[in-house]
Amino acid sequence: MPGRIPKEFIDELLLRVDIVEVIDARVPLKKAGKDYKACCPFHDEKTPSFTVSPAKQFYHCFGCGAHGTAIGFLMEYEHQSFPEAVEELAGRVGLQLPRESLVSSEKTEASANLFRVLEDAARYYRSQLRAHAPAIEYLKRRGISGEIAAAFGLGYAPDGWDHLVRVLGKEAPQRELLIQAGLAVRKEGGGCYDRFRDRVMFPIHDYRGRIIGFGGRVIGKGEPKYLNSPETPLFHKGKELYGLYRARDAIRSAGRVIVVEGYMDVVGLAQFGIDNAVATLGTATTREHLERLFRFAQEVVFCFDGDRAGREAAWRALEAALPILHEGRQISFAFLPEGEDPDSLVRVEGAQALQDRLGSGLSLPEYFFQTLGAKVDLGRLDGRARLVELATPLLSKMPAGAFQQMMLDRLADISRIPSTAAAERKTAAGPSSRDFRRNYAGPKPPPSVVRVAAALLVQNPALIAEIDDPELLGEADLPGMEVFQKIVQLLREQPRLNTAALIEHFRESEHEPVLARLATWSHSSLAQDVRAEFQGALSQLRLKAIETVTDRLVQKGKVFGLSEAEKTELNRLLTAKQEIRQTAPTH
Ligand code: UTP
Ligand code: MN
Repeated sequence: MPGRIPKEFIDELLLRVDIVEVIDARVPLKKAGKDYKACCPFHDEKTPSFTVSPAKQFYHCFGCGAHGTAIGFLMEYEHQSFPEAVEELAGRVGLQLPRESLVSSEKTEASANLFRVLEDAARYYRSQLRAHAPAIEYLKRRGISGEIAAAFGLGYAPDGWDHLVRVLGKEAPQRELLIQAGLAVRKEGGGCYDRFRDRVMFPIHDYRGRIIGFGGRVIGKGEPKYLNSPETPLFHKGKELYGLYRARDAIRSAGRVIVVEGYMDVVGLAQFGIDNAVATLGTATTREHLERLFRFAQEVVFCFDGDRAGREAAWRALEAALPILHEGRQISFAFLPEGEDPDSLVRVEGAQALQDRLGSGLSLPEYFFQTLGAKVDLGRLDGRARLVELATPLLSKMPAGAFQQMMLDRLADISRIPSTAAAERKTAAGPSSRDFRRNYAGPKPPPSVVRVAAALLVQNPALIAEIDDPELLGEADLPGMEVFQKIVQLLREQPRLNTAALIEHFRESEHEPVLARLATWSHSSLAQDVRAEFQGALSQLRLKAIETVTDRLVQKGKVFGLSEAEKTELNRLLTAKQEIRQTAPTH
């Protein structure tokens, strides 16, 4: 959907909107220096680390890492879609949405139709539950009260091939919708039949509370035990979590979310007053799942079976979590006795005993070292070396920071191989292995000059006026130059952009996370004289670029000789280099 609204409109909008007003109306802000502060609405905290910058038109929480523009804030806080957030802000500042973006209503309308048919189906299944005693009996037998069944919107899909199709698919276009929504299956020779038959139906909601799919359980025996909606334009298993919409307030107030394996576990726990549980939908836990959960709470507890499948699921969750595990985020693993799941156990032991189990699970570091430690013989030197070998590629996936350092220290302790020596051993070069080694071996070196220049520019887009030689700068062959150049190019075309608009330009691009980091990066030098600092950084980039170009010319000269024009160019560059050297001392 984003992309249908012209970028220029977003730019204009973000120049007019005041993020402080937008947020203050929902989360009262207090002035603190040139910024505004509040306790973060996206995680539980007692001292404010949620900061809103009127200059950048950007918010950032130092506690949980939430960040974004006014548009992003409405999307997160009000759970609005991108076009909805844009529309609301436009209304606020009296801007008319351009006609082209109304075209996007086609797609919105298609989704709206799907949402409607899913909602209609859910209503139908609920009415069928009331009419089918055996289904009600089944739920009762499993200890589910009418109240909880209603709270989760449980229903029943009757036995037969075309009950739903007959009710909701009278016309061909409606049948097409049923198929697209995953509720009906197309027949070979035309027509379609009900996907869900003789099953208890669990509606699955997105985080805005709209039904996007269903899970259906057989009553009694049968295969498969659970049938889920297929992937549809609205339903993506790797992103969605069962029960999240209903659980979100309980998750926020508990500061903790429990992740279980099954629909019935979520429902069973709720039956016992444990309302902060969600389930993955028969898939492994993904990074996207975790990113979503960490927006609601800082602590995630996985509650899995103690059997092999449960341990495998836990390990995969751990692997998905490593890249997003920074300080403040906590993960633990509670394993249940074999053959039990949260639903069965809570009925035997009661809520308190289950809560105790959840509270006394293994922390991620404990689980990590216990699991890897069990694979080697720690009594032997080569066993301990093997541990380092197993652990380092995984730990290198963690973001650099205190948490990673702590894990590395622990590894050094257990392996009795000092971390620096262990770092030397490490040769496998993962994408972040350089950062990793740097962090592993000692204090961080100063940030790269490209990073400083890019951060200064993102945070102070007016600095673009200082750049009159983008082509030369582009010759500097340094990591990060690609993004830097993209930013430069954009600002040269549109020098009026503010930080927020700049960031919105990169929404859904591969560079989006980098832009956010640059916007929120605070480094002591950034607060000083930004223009002087920026010019200093540019000088360094120029030197590097000149070096590249002159090297190239000299090499070429040796082999082919240089044309007059090339000689002039070489001289010009060498003089320029001298001048820069004299005016800007290099580090
Ligand atoms: P389980 O087999 O552990 O079932 O599947 P359960 O949750 O304990 O269900 P009850 O108590 O027997 O009713 C866990 C989850 O795996 C997915 C479902 O999401 C289920 O909730 N699953 C399981 C499927 O998608 N298909 C299946 O056939 C089985
Ligand atoms: Mn179960």
